[in-house]
Amino acid sequence: MWMPPPDFPVQLTHTISVTETVRDGNCLFIKMVTPVIRTVDLRSDTVTKPTESMRSAMAKAEVDDDVLGNDPTALVLERVVAEIAGKEAAMFVPSGSMGNLISVLVHCDERGSEVILGDDSHIHIYENGGVSSLGGVHPRTVKNEEDGTMEISSIEAAVRSPKGDLHYPVTKLICLENTQANCGGRCLPIEYIDKVGELAKKHGLKLHIDGARIFNASVALGVPVKRIVQAADSVSV
Ligand SMILES: Cc1ncc(COP(=O)(O)O)c(C=O)c1O
Repeated sequence: MWMPPPDFPVQLTHTISVTETVRDGNCLFIKMVTPVIRTVDLRSDTVTKPTESMRSAMAKAEVDDDVLGNDPTALVLERVVAEIAGKEAAMFVPSGSMGNLISVLVHCDERGSEVILGDDSHIHIYENGGVSSLGGVHPRTVKNEEDGTMEISSIEAAVRSPKGDLHYPVTKLICLENTQANCGGRCLPIEYIDKVGELAKKHGLKLHIDGARIFNASVALGVPVKRIVQAADSVSV
């Protein structure tokens, strides 16, 4: 698990006191109740735990053989997520890293393919180099700017010409991450994603979005997920 370095710039635990509003006739009093200390762990959203109702929903879920296509809960989940993402279909996998890996390998369908991705992206830094070790896919990094984007001109400069030197790998895919975790959870604007989508099409490439926090981006931008990922050929959520 990732642990913050000693000089990590945010306060990791946060203590709050709770107040209570009390009505007495026409008067409203704010009263300090016995101070309650709640510790909010801000290292990562991944340290949150399922609530009782989430555990109960999991325990009571109707299950069957998913490989044979008989698991009703997995089928509903996949249908709902496909609708939310505005894509033809969805596949349930146990982790975000696996979703990213499968997506990259689907698009980079020959060994020696190349993927263009952010130098601060989760796929590049935190996924054990799976795209290269398991898929034979070569990562070509482009600098992530502070706002989480990669300069469009830098992405375009990284695309290998199909008529180029035969020693080059073959560019097949561009990956974006929204929100971009290592850039402080910044949202990529829709216009930016659309432009990267156009660039991908222009060069006959696919676009994958690592949407581990796409629902946060949707709330922050006030835009449905399906619009955010409209230009993408795949998205992991
Ligand atoms: C941006 C991003 N992508 C992918 C993942 C991988 O998810 P998982 O831990 O489920 O493999 C994470 C995990 O936090 C993430 O932050």
